[in-house]
Amino acid sequence: MRHSLTVAGAIVPLRFQVKLLHMTSLIDATGTPAWQELSSLAAALRPDLRGWFAADPSRAQRYTFTAGDLYVDLSKNLVTDDVLAALLRLAQQVGLEAKRDAMFAGERINVTENRSVLHTALRRARGDSLVVDGVDVVAEVHQTLDAVYAFARKVRSGEWVGVTGQPIKTVVNIGIGGSDLGPAMAYEALRPYVADGLECRFVSNIDPTDLAQKTAGLDPATTLVIVASKTFTTLETMTNARLARAWLLDGLYGRPVDDATAHQAVSKHFVAVSTALDKVAAFGIDPANAFGFWDWVGGRYSVDSAIGTSLAIAVGPEAFDSFLGGFRAIDEHFEKTPLASNVPVLMGLLNIWYHNVLGASSHAVLPYAQSLSRFAAYLQQLTMESNGKRVRADGSPVTSDTGEVFWGEPGTNGQHAFYQLIHQGTQLIPADFIAVATPAYPLKDGATDVHELFLSNFFAQTKALAFGKTADEVRAEGTPEAIVPARTFPGNRPTTSIMAPALTPSVLGQLIALYEHLTFTQGVVWGIDSFDQWGVELGKKLALEIAPAIGGDAGALADQDASTQALIAYYRTHRTGDVA
Ligand code: F6P
Repeated sequence: MRHSLTVAGAIVPLRFQVKLLHMTSLIDATGTPAWQELSSLAAALRPDLRGWFAADPSRAQRYTFTAGDLYVDLSKNLVTDDVLAALLRLAQQVGLEAKRDAMFAGERINVTENRSVLHTALRRARGDSLVVDGVDVVAEVHQTLDAVYAFARKVRSGEWVGVTGQPIKTVVNIGIGGSDLGPAMAYEALRPYVADGLECRFVSNIDPTDLAQKTAGLDPATTLVIVASKTFTTLETMTNARLARAWLLDGLYGRPVDDATAHQAVSKHFVAVSTALDKVAAFGIDPANAFGFWDWVGGRYSVDSAIGTSLAIAVGPEAFDSFLGGFRAIDEHFEKTPLASNVPVLMGLLNIWYHNVLGASSHAVLPYAQSLSRFAAYLQQLTMESNGKRVRADGSPVTSDTGEVFWGEPGTNGQHAFYQLIHQGTQLIPADFIAVATPAYPLKDGATDVHELFLSNFFAQTKALAFGKTADEVRAEGTPEAIVPARTFPGNRPTTSIMAPALTPSVLGQLIALYEHLTFTQGVVWGIDSFDQWGVELGKKLALEIAPAIGGDAGALADQDASTQALIAYYRTHRTGDVA
């Protein structure tokens, strides 16, 4: 039975009750006993990974955990048993478990948008049920998945043909942010699973270079465009979609065509993924060729929804299903494993330790897997759009730093670029190293297994970062005294090592879910709404206001500040060439 709630004499509608309950239960982490304990532990901390490993032969084993297929070694972090215990107390004192359960149950924890946060429902097993606001969201998820899978099968088998009767060879996904980064990253990661003869390209930037280069060399007759946009209003995506439509019609017909001809071509070469199916129709895409999702899926949490249609076509429904299964394995781990061995919880808490207590401001993610070349870029949106917040869920200012900067590149490329700073710079940069045991391409260089050579770099780097090289060790090599300091490695640079058997679709899903849930864990400690993104709105609005000024509108130009006016003047003076 639905009740209304009375607050200060006023009847509060049901849909705001959960929001109020969350606000009232907002706990300031910095006021908890655990936070004070962590501050004291930090003051007394003398990081000594060499000594800690020597004194405790079981450290590696005690600090290594598994989640699904992931083997996660936390032993090279700057933590002691006391620190870990205090971090776990912090999780309890901020009510992490209750907040996690609220998310899984579909409560409206995205308070500023008054929405549930249910990306975990996207990967619930067929036959499960989760009723939210009277709707079984799992049943809806599987209906949509079935439609995506049926479409993917048609494209893959050649049953779906373009307007000239030819099967599809290239899928161009047009989207940005979560409607691009997830599918683009996952496509790269799972390339070995992509069907022969199929290719995906991803257009995101409104810089016309992106669309021009990504469509170069493609035959429109064998190209399928997926317009992926949760809102179907995003400037970049809608502009690129219109450009792609013009490219398609021009390539197919080479002359202006009537509406019926254009409509017929678009219906065979354009599909859409969106929560706004009315806007899809208004764009001219047949709603029959559109796949929906729901406002309770955040853009950066949507790769496992219909936003992954390009991926489902590329790798096939079976592989996509096992991708979802990977997410599910980590969801279950996060939901059911006690905090003390709950990997996303532990990793999220370690990030709190480094960022809030030890003062680290960034976090590197370093996959020793070329296939994960876009993983750090993907994580940047996941972590920074989620946790880059300055007010808490109740609107009050945050009480500690939030959202650290996530960044990274695949090893070994990073080694030859920025590792110098991680090894010997003045900043503390915790880093996650990720690798798989079995490579997709087992190549040999003579007698040498190249994957082994690659992984020896992973192991060497985490070892060097942890244990360093003392001045005496440098001297013992006969190094002139004057350059001993420059050649000394301080060590005690924290790393987490994550390994998996192979980069399968399931393992990729597990990795993504791991980072989703550690991001959630951090957001709970900070008391923020990790699921809104108001910080991206102002720039979008201003761009629309500035566009006429660039085009010569004197009134719009006069509204700009002096710096912006000068920049626009520079542009107008130096722009050459006509629009093609
Ligand atoms: O501007 C940020 C953002 O809203 C992201 O959160 C989102 O992933 C991206 O834009 C794209 O939005 P849409 O899928 O609605 O086009």
